[in-house]
Amino acid sequence: MSDSPLIPPDQLAKFEFNDDQLSSYRKSKQIPLDLYDRNGKLIMAKKKNATEEDFGKLLKIELQGAYCLSIDTKHLRITSGETTDPRQTKLFDPDKTTDFAKQTESLILELKKEAFNSEHALRLHKSIGKVLDDFTSNPDFESGLFNILEILNHAGVPVESELMTKRTIVAMGMKVRTKKIGVGDDNKPNKKDHLSVMTASFLADIGYSKLVLPDKPNLTKEEYNAIQQHPIISYLMTLAAPEITQEIRTLVLNHHRPFRGNSINNNFPDNNTVFRKLMLIRDKFIKDPSKKMIVADIDAQLRIQESNVNSVNFEEDIAILSLASEYASLTTNQPWRPAFSSATALKMIVNDSFFSYSNRNIRHLLDYVGASLTNNQNIINVGDYVITASIDSEKQAHFDICKILEVDRFQTRPKIQRLCTIKPLFKKGIKYRIADFDINEIRIDKRRAVIDLAGQTSSTQRIIYIIDPEMNAPLYDAVTKMELP
Ligand SMILES: [Fe+2]
Repeated sequence: MSDSPLIPPDQLAKFEFNDDQLSSYRKSKQIPLDLYDRNGKLIMAKKKNATEEDFGKLLKIELQGAYCLSIDTKHLRITSGETTDPRQTKLFDPDKTTDFAKQTESLILELKKEAFNSEHALRLHKSIGKVLDDFTSNPDFESGLFNILEILNHAGVPVESELMTKRTIVAMGMKVRTKKIGVGDDNKPNKKDHLSVMTASFLADIGYSKLVLPDKPNLTKEEYNAIQQHPIISYLMTLAAPEITQEIRTLVLNHHRPFRGNSINNNFPDNNTVFRKLMLIRDKFIKDPSKKMIVADIDAQLRIQESNVNSVNFEEDIAILSLASEYASLTTNQPWRPAFSSATALKMIVNDSFFSYSNRNIRHLLDYVGASLTNNQNIINVGDYVITASIDSEKQAHFDICKILEVDRFQTRPKIQRLCTIKPLFKKGIKYRIADFDINEIRIDKRRAVIDLAGQTSSTQRIIYIIDPEMNAPLYDAVTKMELP
């Protein structure tokens, strides 16, 4: 390879990957073009019968920045156009998914009777590894449909295992599509982070098996307080199995704490409670040599709580767990309310995002798996009205009503036109939320400024509310009236 002549830079084009291309390469088992570094040196030759290892190498090369012959880029478009639309592929097999949900059900039943142990952990790692392998071996996994709701509707499993199964699968989708599986030092696919998110997603709520949960919508303060302790209980339960890594435990412990920063937010349980409870357990175990590993883990978690400094990866993983968990809960029938449709659930999550997620985090759900969960229908479309929030240099938040002019691939970054500013009405019930908007406090923007959110990645402006005619009719009516000439 090193003997090949260098290609002059003017004959090279940046090699950019899209999901459709990767799926089509995987489907045809070939890498149809030569790839070069910026100096025109060949770094990967085209290949027929390419293996998963080759695709891993390809991903790695693409991440580092690769180039191909300009001529080849034309040829690329033709090949991807010839394939059937990968967005129509249903990604989950009903039998395998139902099996996974049934295994989940038996684990939950066992946990009601006994403590979580190594045998459970090993069984869990195995079944989660299989779910991930099945998923990524589908050539269309980057763009196909998450037919998970329709399968679980007929699986006949109880609510708890429906939730755990759905949450684990949606979290897997977000993680895999946000972070491509690369190649590790041993030249094998490195799935560690992906498996950690899935395992944490599965284990996050096992603490509920030790709580008696009320089956009603309006909880008392005490009941809600008890429920808010479940991340700590789940975390403590995992300590008995050394097979669960410290990273997974950190995710479990923090899975309802996706909001970063110090402003008002909906994270729970609060920092002090976590700190106090962990200290109590630590003090109880510190003199017992058989509990050395547990004390070490608690110490590590305390350090993380204290420093409040986390890696970007960790922050993303927490948001993925939290978003997957909310989505799973909203789309599942509860004894006190029917399941919401997939699109309604996504809109509800966006409309409640202001005190819970950063813009960057909500994109994992909306831009990477959103349309795959709603039959390729966006929830933000041309002509819709949305409310955006932006923070100025004085840390003041401003809210605008905007109309969607264009939506490209990413729903959270459309081109919008500002109609007016508006004042939100905040409320603190069980959570902080924007309860409504004051339609008497509207100020019209005469310029009707047009903003392309896709081109403004450094701006803080982001969509925090979709004005839906069914979810908030008075506001929708007020805005449509305002729009009339
Ligand atoms: Fe939870």
